[in-house]
Amino acid sequence: PYLADVSADCTLAKNEHGSSIKARAGGSVLLPCYCTDLHKKPETFTWQKLNTTRNTWEVISPESGQYRDRVQLVTGHSPGNLSLLISHLIKEDGGHYICAVKGSHIIIKLTLQGCTLVNHERPLRITAHTGGSVLLPCYCTDLHTTPEIFSGWKYKTVTNMWEEISSGSGQYRDRFQLVNGHSPGNLSLLISHLTEEDGGDYRCDSKGSGYTDIRLTVEGKTLFISAFLRSMCLDSLTS
Ligand SMILES: *[C@@H]1O[C@H](CO)[C@@H](O)[C@H](O)[C@H]1NC(C)=O
Ligand SMILES: *[C@@H]1O[C@H](CO)[C@@H](O)[C@H](O)[C@H]1NC(C)=O
Repeated sequence: PYLADVSADCTLAKNEHGSSIKARAGGSVLLPCYCTDLHKKPETFTWQKLNTTRNTWEVISPESGQYRDRVQLVTGHSPGNLSLLISHLIKEDGGHYICAVKGSHIIIKLTLQGCTLVNHERPLRITAHTGGSVLLPCYCTDLHTTPEIFSGWKYKTVTNMWEEISSGSGQYRDRFQLVNGHSPGNLSLLISHLTEEDGGDYRCDSKGSGYTDIRLTVEGKTLFISAFLRSMCLDSLTS
């Protein structure tokens, strides 16, 4: 009987791609772990993550804690495949993971690449015209990443306070729109039917990823006047 037990044991395969994996915040990652013989299912196994503050290994649970509803075992129909899929990755998921069966374990280091918003040091200056539309650019340096927490676009009020812009309400209704052009890391804001009051300081804000400041100037009447004067001149020249 003992011999039979031994033959049923699973020895974990070392990862052929090394034990270091990079993934993007907001995305998902498969942490590979499998028995050298994929037909063998270990009696017990665990996935744990190193808690660096307490210096302890903590069991990963899909039911509670940091990984709640974000982890899933994906066997791909092989009993000996113990791989772990983590989705909606957040920065805190980075670190060391251990996949352990009786008498064998592998350690995987997961590095998370997050979003850093393009920062222009000084506010980016943009000029647009009343009645027209303008795109206020804001995006992660890597367009495949997304900020963990996007605090949205803000507008600086006359009292120098940052006021949140929510496209569904009040003066912003229908005229302010987030357009990502199919890139999750693109958080640009499109403002249409511009009025002179739309001019001012805007901030695209994301906790942990930085911010982008934009100074928008909306030109209106003066432009019409200069255009009017120009046409007057042309009139006087042609008449
Ligand atoms: C384990 O299952 C995952 C998900 O189906 C698959 O991507 C992976 O290739 C499998 N690993 C092995 C060694 O078969
Ligand atoms: C973001 O999306 C807008 C709207 O589709 C597009 O015009 C702009 O070029 C995009 N920005 C980047 C950096 O891809």
